[in-house]
Amino acid sequence: MIKYFLSCILTCFLFSCKQAEKTSTRGLISKQAMVVSARAEASKIGSDILKKGGNAFDAMCATQLALAVAYPYAGNIGGGGFMVYRKANGDIGSIDFREKAPLAATKDMYLNENGDVIPEKSTLGAMAVGVPGTVAGIFEVHEKLGSLPIKDIINPSIALAYNGVTVTKKQEETIKKYRPLFSKVNKEAIPLDKAWKENDVIKYPALAKTLERISQNGKDEFYKGKTSKILAKFIQENGGILTEKDLAGYEAKWREPIVFTYDDLKIISIAPPSSGGIALAQIMKMLEPFHLDEYGHHSLKTIQAITEAERRAYADRSFYLGDPDFIKIPVETLIKEDYLSGRMADFSFEKATLSSDVSHGNIQIIESNETTHYSIIDQFGNAIACTTTINGAYGSKLYCAELGFFLNNEMDDFSSKPGVPNMFGLIGAEANSILPEKRMLSSMTPTIVEKNNKLFMTLGTPGGSTIITSVMQTILNVHEFDMTMQEAVDAPRFHHQWLPDEIRMEPNLFDRNLIKQLENLGYSINEKDAPVIGKVDGILVLDDNTYEGGADYRGDDTAVGF
Ligand code: DON
Repeated sequence: MIKYFLSCILTCFLFSCKQAEKTSTRGLISKQAMVVSARAEASKIGSDILKKGGNAFDAMCATQLALAVAYPYAGNIGGGGFMVYRKANGDIGSIDFREKAPLAATKDMYLNENGDVIPEKSTLGAMAVGVPGTVAGIFEVHEKLGSLPIKDIINPSIALAYNGVTVTKKQEETIKKYRPLFSKVNKEAIPLDKAWKENDVIKYPALAKTLERISQNGKDEFYKGKTSKILAKFIQENGGILTEKDLAGYEAKWREPIVFTYDDLKIISIAPPSSGGIALAQIMKMLEPFHLDEYGHHSLKTIQAITEAERRAYADRSFYLGDPDFIKIPVETLIKEDYLSGRMADFSFEKATLSSDVSHGNIQIIESNETTHYSIIDQFGNAIACTTTINGAYGSKLYCAELGFFLNNEMDDFSSKPGVPNMFGLIGAEANSILPEKRMLSSMTPTIVEKNNKLFMTLGTPGGSTIITSVMQTILNVHEFDMTMQEAVDAPRFHHQWLPDEIRMEPNLFDRNLIKQLENLGYSINEKDAPVIGKVDGILVLDDNTYEGGADYRGDDTAVGF
């Protein structure tokens, strides 16, 4: 009996010590508004626009352009993206400013005469470039939802480009890594192709001039004006097929977001041509019946359940998803609970399902590192989540020196050949084959979460195919495992995408014993190929209605607010 009491006292003591030990790490807290993006300069420019009285949509346009200057690795006007919003009054919406295939694109444009994919043709240089959508996206958002004059929004980025941007340690490293490709792809010298060191300042006068013209002449400058002429000529001189007509015909599109519930959360995410919202909904709906909070964060059972849901969702992604303007996607069915519980019916905690045993689900259809994300909440309560990309790091590496920006290599997001993986190892099918003017399937997942009908979180991330699962883990970290926004963003991540049949894990961050247990159940673990998974930026609304920023330590990401 005495022994029993002693052990009770000891247990209580240990338990309370453990409780006391758990200190929570919060990110930046602000009372009124916040911007979280990949660079401090861009977050500050966005936040200053809010301070001036602009709304989240004005700040979106300003942050996007500031990233084009400060973060040429992924920020852009030569690429595209997606934005999801929730207004203070609860209205939701989203815009697709994804690139599209040029008019002269053909299904087999990346195949040789034997029908094999030609290495690098869809990733490096002018043939990889899709018609950029960013400038159209900015003007469309500003026209419909913005409030400040466009000049006030563009000016800070023009000044930043003239004054220059300080090189960070991480930027020094990426420039060093990609310099050989800059000189391989570009005929002329480009500003980034130098041995830049941390704390050097890089100026972008050509980009400043392009932005000045856009500020003066509006969207048409980029799509029908002098800039479009220079751009089309430049791409063709470098062996590409993009024409002035392609630019003149580009339009951003408003899309109905994908909306679903998970426990007491309402999740609002992006619709096709991104796979993000549908895949996120599929994975989370497959997970909803499991008691992840009881299993624990990164416990064996949690990792198994998440992996198996991911495996099945990515198999569906590869078969069913593509540009909805070109193919019929069974959206309703794909995210229906009975379809998804059927997909998980053969899962058991006893052993791994093999991806070779998983195909896309059967649905009757009457007819499938580098990007960047920013999240903004303004002082009026409007929220946006925007993910934007030129696809690979520095896109196609092709840099138009006269205009001052990199061009995307988004064409690689198409399936060049059914069954042959793209640069993210993603396999595609007919649904994502190349056609003129079609938009390539994306994984970008800008997402807003509501709780009790109130704004709860806005988040997203780069990371190619790992975007969807990084967003999902971050939401679960807050909702199931009670983490702060910053902890949720910082927590180690893992990823499964059906094929290849492996769990990718950030190296040396997962328990060795856990990895052994997973291997014993038949999972294969890859800790080599993904030094980091995602760079999540998000904002959480706390109980006292203040905002907590989560800026990913994996990049130079920074939250700025007031
Ligand atoms: O749209 C997509 O899914 C890809 N182009 C995103 C690329 C990306 O996230 C690269 N970052 N690591």
